[in-house]
Amino acid sequence: MDPVEQLREKAEQATLGGGKEGIQKQHNKGKLTARERIETLLDAGSFVELDRFVVHQCHDFGMDKKKILGDGVVTGYGTLDGRLIYIFAQDFTVFGGSLGEMYAQKICKIMDLAMRTGAPVIGLNDSGGARIQEGVTSLGGYAEIFWRNVMASGVIPQISAVLGPCAGGAVYSPAMTDFIIMVDEISHMFITGPEVIKTVTKEEVTFEELGGSRTHAGKSGVAHFACGDEQECFATIKRLLSFIPQNNMEDPPVIKSEDDPNRKDTELASIVPDSPEKPYDIKDVITRVVDTNDFLEIHKDYAQNIVVGFARLDGRPVGIVANQPSVLAGVLDIAASMKGARFVRFCDAFNIPLVTFVDVPGFLPGTDQEWGGIISHGAKLLYAFCEATVPKLTVITRKAYGGAYDVMNSKHVRADFNIAWPQAEIAVMGPQGAVNIIFRRDVQEADDPQKKVESLVAEYREKFANPYVAAERGYIDDVVEPPETRPRLISALTALQNKRQTLPPKKHGNIPL
Ligand code: HXC
Repeated sequence: MDPVEQLREKAEQATLGGGKEGIQKQHNKGKLTARERIETLLDAGSFVELDRFVVHQCHDFGMDKKKILGDGVVTGYGTLDGRLIYIFAQDFTVFGGSLGEMYAQKICKIMDLAMRTGAPVIGLNDSGGARIQEGVTSLGGYAEIFWRNVMASGVIPQISAVLGPCAGGAVYSPAMTDFIIMVDEISHMFITGPEVIKTVTKEEVTFEELGGSRTHAGKSGVAHFACGDEQECFATIKRLLSFIPQNNMEDPPVIKSEDDPNRKDTELASIVPDSPEKPYDIKDVITRVVDTNDFLEIHKDYAQNIVVGFARLDGRPVGIVANQPSVLAGVLDIAASMKGARFVRFCDAFNIPLVTFVDVPGFLPGTDQEWGGIISHGAKLLYAFCEATVPKLTVITRKAYGGAYDVMNSKHVRADFNIAWPQAEIAVMGPQGAVNIIFRRDVQEADDPQKKVESLVAEYREKFANPYVAAERGYIDDVVEPPETRPRLISALTALQNKRQTLPPKKHGNIPL
């Protein structure tokens, strides 16, 4: 056969993966194929495939008669919004997307290239897990990927879309990447499936309840985003990457802002209710401060008492961490601490400045929290803020009480620019709680205990529940009127542009995991 003809024929064969029937089955499940996914996600015509002629080397179980070009995973590079990325897409039409030795080597090859060239890796997962026929070589293949996930962590961004089954140990590769995105109905992640669970614990649970997108985005926090369909998933990946640098040696991409850096949003003046007990939505504050109301919230449905996500200030990406007074009064609990800590560490690893909005009554009391290890988990957030060396900015909008004041990017953990709004209360605890403890005897002995409490609360509020005690000591740099917040943050970011801070030399710290 003419060599060129032969190439064309092989190429055509490779493109079909598991064949027309498999493609039809995939479509019938409402899923795109691996190649369609890559084409939809990347800039048109930019994808360059590698290793399309790779086949497995397995001879057992009649596998030598079933060799499929590409071996069930499409790998290569391309551009997304003009920026280089490496990508792999698991092809469910070939042996259920299951991973064997050569398949793993294809993924490892692009991960190595991504590391050498400082570009993100996007993994589109849709697989039945370890290829059973290949035995231990497929387990070895997984471990080779896991190892690379860890080496790449904090060096290049790694994003996992789970677009089909992802079960058993296979979940640990996405779990070690920076962001996991799932799609309703088609994505499922679990260590053991419903059948095994039924046998072992007698629990009955559906795939969707056990490991569907809403479960992992809302209950477990394993997924950062749950999307309605694959198109939304790809749009989310694009938007996410727009805030993130290509690697840890670069600054995040700056765009020309359409929003006036000196804009003062007068509505901010009345956003915090007069009563310290009343809730408000911190996202109203965030969107009014950042460029063009544009805020990409991460982990939107998980631990909603803390809000994290990306935005821009005068075109420069920032990571926002904010207590949410409208959920559990913005208290810090186990889930919120872990969510916040992971986000802070991502931003720090990738040179994204942190902007923290504080309105926190403290840590959540209770046996659930104590026995669940709030001490260690809360310490993660504290550790993450202490360790972060990116520019760190803080706005105290209302309460900053107790240990949570220290934790939430206070001056003492080396925040660079801390401001408070005039109604801020920076104290060990709220007035009522403080009076109950330090004036218990005075209240008991008073002729009119109720009146005594009221006057002591008023006195405490006057003395301590304000921003000026902290301002007198320089614990905050200024007290500002809320509409000034945007211009002040932008000016501080500019002033901190060349911030340089290094940590003491060490192999690595020992974050309380
Ligand atoms: C080889 C596999 C496979 C696997 C699926 N297939 N999983 N082949 N190894 N792990 C094949 C099927 O035989 C079938 O081939 C085709 O893929 C499609 O599978 P179906 O079962 O028909 O598809 P569906 O009904 O959609 O079910 C998908 C599924 C199911 C839920 C993923 O296939 C399944 O439960 N597979 C096994 C999952 C599993 O236990 N994997 C090992 C996990 S442990 P034909 O030829 O009939 O089309 C693991 C360890 C990793 O992965 C360790 C890392 C440390």
